[in-house]
Amino acid sequence: MDQEIKCAVIGTGYVGLVTGACLADLGYHVICLDRDEGKLESLRNGKVEIFEAELEPMIVRNMKNGSLSFSADIKSAVSDSFYIFITVDTPSDETGRADITNVEEAARRIAPGVNSYKIIVNKSTVPVGSTNRVMRIIEESEPEYPEFDVVSNPEFLREGTAVFDFMNPTRIVIGSDSEKAIMHMTELYRPINAPLLITDPISAEMIKYASNAFLATKISYINAIANLCEYIGADVREVSLGMGYDGRIGFEFLKPGPGFGGSCFPKDTRALLAIATDYGYNFDLLKGTLEVNRRQRERMVEKLERMLGKLEEVKIAALGLSFKANTSDVRESPAIEIVRMLRDRKANVSAYDPKAMDNARKQLEGIEFADNPYLAARDADALVILTEWDEFKWLDYPRIAELMKRPIILDTRNLLDPQVLRKEGFTYEGVGR
Ligand code: UDX
Repeated sequence: MDQEIKCAVIGTGYVGLVTGACLADLGYHVICLDRDEGKLESLRNGKVEIFEAELEPMIVRNMKNGSLSFSADIKSAVSDSFYIFITVDTPSDETGRADITNVEEAARRIAPGVNSYKIIVNKSTVPVGSTNRVMRIIEESEPEYPEFDVVSNPEFLREGTAVFDFMNPTRIVIGSDSEKAIMHMTELYRPINAPLLITDPISAEMIKYASNAFLATKISYINAIANLCEYIGADVREVSLGMGYDGRIGFEFLKPGPGFGGSCFPKDTRALLAIATDYGYNFDLLKGTLEVNRRQRERMVEKLERMLGKLEEVKIAALGLSFKANTSDVRESPAIEIVRMLRDRKANVSAYDPKAMDNARKQLEGIEFADNPYLAARDADALVILTEWDEFKWLDYPRIAELMKRPIILDTRNLLDPQVLRKEGFTYEGVGR
């Protein structure tokens, strides 16, 4: 591939690092930028703070062969590059709106480096109209070279499989009104085999929100069905299987649990609701999606209380703290929120997670962290599975039954086999079964 094609990637969070590493792996010359010098230094030493399959070796490999480097100097990286990616985070503000301060700041810092025609590619999830906002900020800074394009190119990476998702996307969305930019973006992604959707920037921005909020709604829907199954005595796993055979519904994203979490679904659903409100559209469906999700966490706590009789002064072993399996990310994790609620109800929680303990420690006070699941389970009145880590499937449950004060399991992820556990003497409850 053409080593002469240079890319600058601004922001070394999840999306930035995956984008930078994968572009380098495709053969482009990539500079990843961040203002945090400490972070840059540890990246240069091959240390990636986030746990993401394949990412660290890919970064190390591409640094070694000279395709990937890290810097804090945005101006010269932009001057040297043709494609400039904005991959900074857009956190929720108090009203649920996506805060685009970081994107605006990136645009201001890009402007002085625009010394020839460049394509600025926005990958951050931003409210509709932000592509134009970035364009205006750069224009108003009167860059050295007047011609540049800003393109919306949303990412659909899932944590845990982000590298795979970058290389094998379900689709590539390019939002731009400039034929020249579209041609260059098509060229950039030529090595990747995926349907290419070329559209206007506002529609591209909307595709991202509409997709995430739809998937979030699908999860809230199956959670509501699961709750109803509990009342009527149906098994939600059979129900979702029966639904999934209908190609219009599909099997994916029909797993009930403690509600969706993570860095995207809660934030993007709130943001889309806020966008609708701002334009005077009452998007009740999304209010329902968020309300079911909020209540779902509470339901898990109420279930546990019913199983135990009370929560005060009981010991609860909490297995799993990340928002889903195969990630160390605890952002908006239902597990963390449930543990907090248990703690506030005066339960003594002993928690374990294979990868998220360090991140969880920063967010959770007043609970105990156990070095392994068996230590967490010792003398516990109940064990609650909060994240669907594979290793929790293969624990020595007879041993756990012996260690616990009372053999009670609440499996909020329907990870375990109820029949086997009941045979081993546990009182078992899942979700919707
Ligand atoms: C998501 C989107 O999938 C991705 O396309 C987008 O770019 C970013 O947001 P991610 O947040 O990494 O990715 O996780 P995902 O695997 O989609 O799960 C999100 C949440 O939904 C998790 O809390 C997960 O446990 C929950 N979930 C998912 C369910 O409760 N049930 C399901 O059936 C699927």
